[in-house]
Amino acid sequence: MSDAPQTIHLADWRPFGWLVTDVRLTFTLSPDATRVRSAIRFEPNPDPQADRTRFFLHGEGLRLISARIDGVAVAPAITAHGLTVAVPDGGFLWESEVEIAPAENTALEGLYMSRGMYCSQCEAEGFRHITFYPDRPDVMAQFHVRIESDLPVLLSNGNLAGQGPGWAEWHDPWPKPAYLFALVAGDLVATRDTFTTRSGREVALAILVRPGDETRTAYAMDSLKRAMRWDEEEYGREYDLDMFNIVAVDDFNMGAMENKGLNIFNARLVLASPETATDADYERIESVIAHEYFHNWTGNRITCRDWFQLCLKEGLTVFRDQQFSGDMRSAAVKRIEDAIVLRNRQFREDAGPLAHPVRPESFVEINNFYTATVYEKGAEVVGMLKTLVGEDSYRASLDLYFKRHDGQAVTIEDWLRVFEDTTGRDLSQFARWYSQAGTPRVTVTEDWENGTFNLTLRQHTPPTPGQPKKAPQVIPVAVGLLGPNGDEVVPTQVLELAEDEQTFTFEGLASRPVPSVLRGFSAPVILEGDASLERMAFLLAHDTDPFNRWQAGRDLARHVLRAMLTRDATPDPAYGQALAGFLRDDRLDPALRALALALPGEEDTARDLYNTGVPPDPDAIHRAHEALRDVLAQDLGALLLQIRAAMTPAGPYAPDAAGAGRRALANACLALITRVDGGKAASVAFASASNMTDKVAALAALLATGRGEAELSAFERDWAHDRLVMDKWFTLQVHHAAPVAAAATVERLVSRADFDMRNPNRFRAVFGALPGNPAGFHHASGAGYRLLADWLIRLDPLNPQTAARLSQAFDGWRRLDAGRQGLMRAELARISATPGLSRDLGEMAARMLA
Ligand code: BES
Ligand code: ZN
Repeated sequence: MSDAPQTIHLADWRPFGWLVTDVRLTFTLSPDATRVRSAIRFEPNPDPQADRTRFFLHGEGLRLISARIDGVAVAPAITAHGLTVAVPDGGFLWESEVEIAPAENTALEGLYMSRGMYCSQCEAEGFRHITFYPDRPDVMAQFHVRIESDLPVLLSNGNLAGQGPGWAEWHDPWPKPAYLFALVAGDLVATRDTFTTRSGREVALAILVRPGDETRTAYAMDSLKRAMRWDEEEYGREYDLDMFNIVAVDDFNMGAMENKGLNIFNARLVLASPETATDADYERIESVIAHEYFHNWTGNRITCRDWFQLCLKEGLTVFRDQQFSGDMRSAAVKRIEDAIVLRNRQFREDAGPLAHPVRPESFVEINNFYTATVYEKGAEVVGMLKTLVGEDSYRASLDLYFKRHDGQAVTIEDWLRVFEDTTGRDLSQFARWYSQAGTPRVTVTEDWENGTFNLTLRQHTPPTPGQPKKAPQVIPVAVGLLGPNGDEVVPTQVLELAEDEQTFTFEGLASRPVPSVLRGFSAPVILEGDASLERMAFLLAHDTDPFNRWQAGRDLARHVLRAMLTRDATPDPAYGQALAGFLRDDRLDPALRALALALPGEEDTARDLYNTGVPPDPDAIHRAHEALRDVLAQDLGALLLQIRAAMTPAGPYAPDAAGAGRRALANACLALITRVDGGKAASVAFASASNMTDKVAALAALLATGRGEAELSAFERDWAHDRLVMDKWFTLQVHHAAPVAAAATVERLVSRADFDMRNPNRFRAVFGALPGNPAGFHHASGAGYRLLADWLIRLDPLNPQTAARLSQAFDGWRRLDAGRQGLMRAELARISATPGLSRDLGEMAARMLA
């Protein structure tokens, strides 16, 4: 087999030729020479499609010590990807022993070490770095695992089957694919609790962390118990093992992983105390704990047939974690936050060379397809299905899904069929959401005649790589109508736009209404066209849909920014006035008001300009945003002080939504106040802050106005011993560096002794943060591009997954001016031409250049 990266196609899938009926693994742990013995029983797969032309097991970076079939030594043919060997016609026992070196594993895929502790990461294709195996999700089996080591805590999936000095045995009764295998060994401290399922079974819960960190596990445990209860109540899903363990590790490529019964988490998504974690951290921990727990049913009990079906588990599980967070906190605020993320990440992806369908049709490296499209757009597609079939049918469909497919590895077709069978609805057109890439544009025109109001909706999706022509999709557009005095005259209804153009008629209205379109962001589309300032201010003041009220504020800001950037206009005071009315309304959730006070991101403005045919200039955009903030700070002056004072909390810090909302509003005010008070309020706030939320907000406000040197030093003095808190310190400096100083700031930070490029969190704290300072990253000198490319090339041999992920910062190069385009393309070409480049980064660079 050639070593050139191969492209894998959805159309080529065939069932594996054998079934695995039993897996026994024995690990004898040692940093440089861990021995893995396997005994795997194979039976011929009776499926007529199964491919038994050759017996191939995946395996990469394994030193084979011995191999036997039915007890007789064999000599397999080994390549860089796996082995082939002649096997008997019927069932047989495969046994092998391999040696691996977890201490040398810097890619953090397979079995590796993180500060003295062993841990594993097998999704998507990491198990093949542990032993020879059919490492594909449609091969499901029961695992028995024995771990031999002197370390005090030895964990694997399932239930503990026995333990003694120097060993432990685990048995997972639920058949699972190898990507859900996990092993942890280390000196860990457990926070324990129990959960009684609704059928009365008691589950032992544990969160295992490094000694010293156990004071920061309470919120994760609380989140876990709430998630377990919620899944019983909302989806009828009960936990299915005697124990559930969560382990926090410092070195982790992703956020967290749903291994059966043994979730492994990036420490930053477990550990929280008021002094070290922000409100945003708490909110994220709650949602990620829930997400990984929810995978127990959507992902583990029912898994994916192949990796093209990834959205089957990820899109659905993101949708479920979003519902959960909405229920735990404010559904309206959560919806806005999710829409912001979707537009920033997914709309951006869809608008460039990396655009791909929610279910891709080919890939080189599957790790490159854990994308915003698969996750966030995948979740939107589930949400649209729910909107279209309604609450009750959604639940009935999910019930059928769990009943029909429990224990199986399934496809999007299977998923859609449960909805069709439940509702009788034909979903063949809806299925285009899975196969067509690109963000649909929807335009709305209104017509009013003799008491009849016509809304004409048109859709159109621009071409994406490999898909020049798009067919119309089924777009649920939630619409309500407001009367001229602001009363709602027609409550929300869902219009189904399924053709290129459709007109919807509303009769019997006394006067011309104002439509509120795409309420709750009912579909992941771009609403094109520009309403008048008056219309936007009216909706900001009166819409009954909180999402669209917020959206109206966004539209106003966008309108003002566009006028500043294209006509050199001074900011229209109407924006500040409309905003003030909204901010003053103390019946409104403070969190919602805080969101309204935030401007769109500079990247949003850039995309908005580009979409309307104006070439975006990152420097000018940055200056316009700054200028608008200055104007708001001036115009809203006294009101900001007043609101901030009113939001000052009484009592100790609690990470709940109400407290977080008040802090968010107080701190949004502080950021503006700092622009006009010489930094006084923020300095005081920094010195007196008793929680990390207020601390970081005060420091950010100072840094954003060119101050905060002393505070940065104080922060470092206080927190130098804490990796997670110091990650924030690194990121803040990159985010708030003046554009011209951004590259130099990064260079200063990476020359520090505590910049450890092998720790993904620290690497991301600097290089993941750089594109978050768009004017700095895109500085016309090209220094930002050069620096990022240099460090991606350096990281790639150590950790290709993380290098590939961060390379996405280059995907917008075609939207920039000729000078920046040239600079970015040259850096991509330099990356691409690097000898020995990984499949991960190689694929990303090639796709971005194509
Ligand atoms: N299954 C993934 C983790 C994963 C992703 C492993 C890619 C290997 C490659 C997990 O369920 C997940 O989705 N984690 C997210 C966080 C989640 C809340 C969206 C992550 O790690 O970012
Ligand atoms: Zn997931």
